[in-house]
Amino acid sequence: MTVPFWIAGKPVTSSSTAVVRHSYDGSEAGSHYVPTASDVEAAVAAAASGADEFATTPAHVRAGALDHVSRSLSQRADEIAQLITAESGKPLKWSRGEVGRAVSTFRWAAEEARRFSGELQRLDTDPGGTGRLALVRRVPRGPVLGITPFNFPLNLVAHKVAPAIAVGAPIVLKPAPATPLTSLLLGEILTETALPPGSWSILPLGNGETASLVQDPRLPVVSFTGSVPVGWSIRDSVPRKHVALELGGNGAVLVCPDWPDLDFAAQRIATFSMYQAGQSCISVQRVYVHTDVYDELESRVLAQVAALHTGDPASDGVDVGPLINEAAASRVASWVSDAVSAGASLLTGGGRSGATVEPTVLSGVPEDAAVMAEEVFGPVVSLIRVSSVDEGVSRINASRFGLQAGVFTRDLPTAFDISARLKVGGVLIGDVPSFRADQMPYGGVKDSGVGREGPAAAMADFTEERVTVLTGLTL
Ligand code: SIN
Repeated sequence: MTVPFWIAGKPVTSSSTAVVRHSYDGSEAGSHYVPTASDVEAAVAAAASGADEFATTPAHVRAGALDHVSRSLSQRADEIAQLITAESGKPLKWSRGEVGRAVSTFRWAAEEARRFSGELQRLDTDPGGTGRLALVRRVPRGPVLGITPFNFPLNLVAHKVAPAIAVGAPIVLKPAPATPLTSLLLGEILTETALPPGSWSILPLGNGETASLVQDPRLPVVSFTGSVPVGWSIRDSVPRKHVALELGGNGAVLVCPDWPDLDFAAQRIATFSMYQAGQSCISVQRVYVHTDVYDELESRVLAQVAALHTGDPASDGVDVGPLINEAAASRVASWVSDAVSAGASLLTGGGRSGATVEPTVLSGVPEDAAVMAEEVFGPVVSLIRVSSVDEGVSRINASRFGLQAGVFTRDLPTAFDISARLKVGGVLIGDVPSFRADQMPYGGVKDSGVGREGPAAAMADFTEERVTVLTGLTL
């Protein structure tokens, strides 16, 4: 069945359709209708004309809708996980994890919507303000354009849609062309709520059609998750808009000599460099290991990587599936061979079959090799020996990216010292950088982006302060 797209909460078909293919075997994962230019115009016009009504929709309606989505995702978890796997090639166990996270993202947004009250500020701190009180509330900046990537077809959509609904800002969502089906199913669940028409639209468009949406003045907020060049070019092209960017990273780990449990560190490094075939902005890519523990850690990481099962992502028990397409896999494989030509040692992996790249571990990689300096977005990890913790910190910071980093230490002063010095959006002590709880502020510094996700952080981002001054009061 070809599924509709959504304009102002209504299902819409058109004369044009697109097929979404499974990256593992090329089979059809599903198909959808493709919006025309006039459909796009209708969605943007509805967002603009519905903005005032939605901004004043009571919190119980918005929170109730978000709670409904959370419950419904939970009830339909198995079906949705299968769809995520079919369209993205993500192994089923990680798709199940993603649905669980989206349940939580919507639930958190519902809770935050109920709490989103603003604050009072007394103004009688100077004689001119006697008897005056300011009511400081946050109001939507206006309709949001949400643009999402293929690697989390549900939860990164949830991180745009849920906070927009929570603050009463209409959202026009453009999902990734490779993985639009899960977001279109989310539309089906959103229609079961009492949200006003105009509050949401989902347009499965090609990337080439994004520019006019980005430029449209009726969408004053752009929230983009995706590649570094596209993200920054969006921001540069609309300097007067409010633009939030969640971009790439080359997630680093530092293993300090005091860390007592190298088996645990190796298991986390192996799992989270290869999960989703490395297609997460916070997957482990660079591992700086103190020389005192390097040899032991390297052999343990190799043992853990050897235990991972590669294959059909729809099979239970498969850990590493395909990349999103063959072109992505071919790029990753060529970066690995470039690193080897530049002097790196290939400890395991490096091979490719279709869209699947073998879990790959390198050592002795020059810092300027693409597998270190760029975002690999593939199942490739580099192990680097360092002679001190300080060397590890400065080599992590030498990157142009700064999303999250993981530090294996048990020493509290060291943990505080390193987390003060690392130039990243988040530091994980005793773990890899790939951990994300969905209520946390999440985002990066430097080329990794600007702004923070997480329901509360994004709600602040999608709104601005509105002050009402009350006079003649006894305070
Ligand atoms: C991302 O790839 O930016 C998102 C990672 C996550 O939500 O776990």
